[in-house]
Amino acid sequence: MAEEQVLNTHNADILLSAANKSHYPQDDLPEVALAGRSNVGKSSFINTLLGRKNLARTSGKPGKTQLLNFYNIDNKLRFVDVPGYGYARVSKKERAKWGKMIEEYLVTRDNLRAVVSLVDLRHDPTQDDVQMYEFLKYYEIPVIIVATKADKIPRGKWNKHASAIKTKLNFDKKDRFIIFSAVTREGYDEAWDTILAEL
Ligand code: GTP
Ligand code: MG
Repeated sequence: MAEEQVLNTHNADILLSAANKSHYPQDDLPEVALAGRSNVGKSSFINTLLGRKNLARTSGKPGKTQLLNFYNIDNKLRFVDVPGYGYARVSKKERAKWGKMIEEYLVTRDNLRAVVSLVDLRHDPTQDDVQMYEFLKYYEIPVIIVATKADKIPRGKWNKHASAIKTKLNFDKKDRFIIFSAVTREGYDEAWDTILAEL
């Protein structure tokens, strides 16, 4: 597999958690951020790509990841787990704080090479999903759409669901769209190849 020629994915650990710029790592390693609504599977995506059960904390409880979590992978790349959006039981004030934190990272971070934007293959993208994609396109941040939880629908329906998502997002054909599952590891190779190509 391609990633094994480039980095030792087993040599991965959480580096730090940050609420703002002053706490980001101070070097120029490339970073790939994971964005998506709460509970969509961002942390599970990281764990799957790193072959770890629980490096990035996952939970049934949405809204658990509150800070930007930086994961160091073999001192060559970092994944940045971004707190999920669209969690209903969050105050207006907290939501505004969240927005500021994400925007500061996405807009000002020179290390950022691409954002993996996760959506649920089973459902139409939410308004927040559409907004995130538009935001990334507006700032010309390379974006990889990962449609996850593919194991929850039959393979024969994947294309239909993928098309519906693309339409709703106003998907740019130049971007990559990957069907993924943290359970079956569907899309694992394609995800790594796509990420490595952005570094
Ligand atoms: P927040 O940190 O709250 O924003 O959530 P998250 O996006 O990090 O989601 P997380 O990875 O914690 O996953 C949420 C739930 O979905 C967990 O119960 C996971 O086990 C489950 N899950 C994630 N990915 C998949 C998948 O591909 N298939 C299935 N069946 N379940 C998944
Ligand atoms: Mg998470």
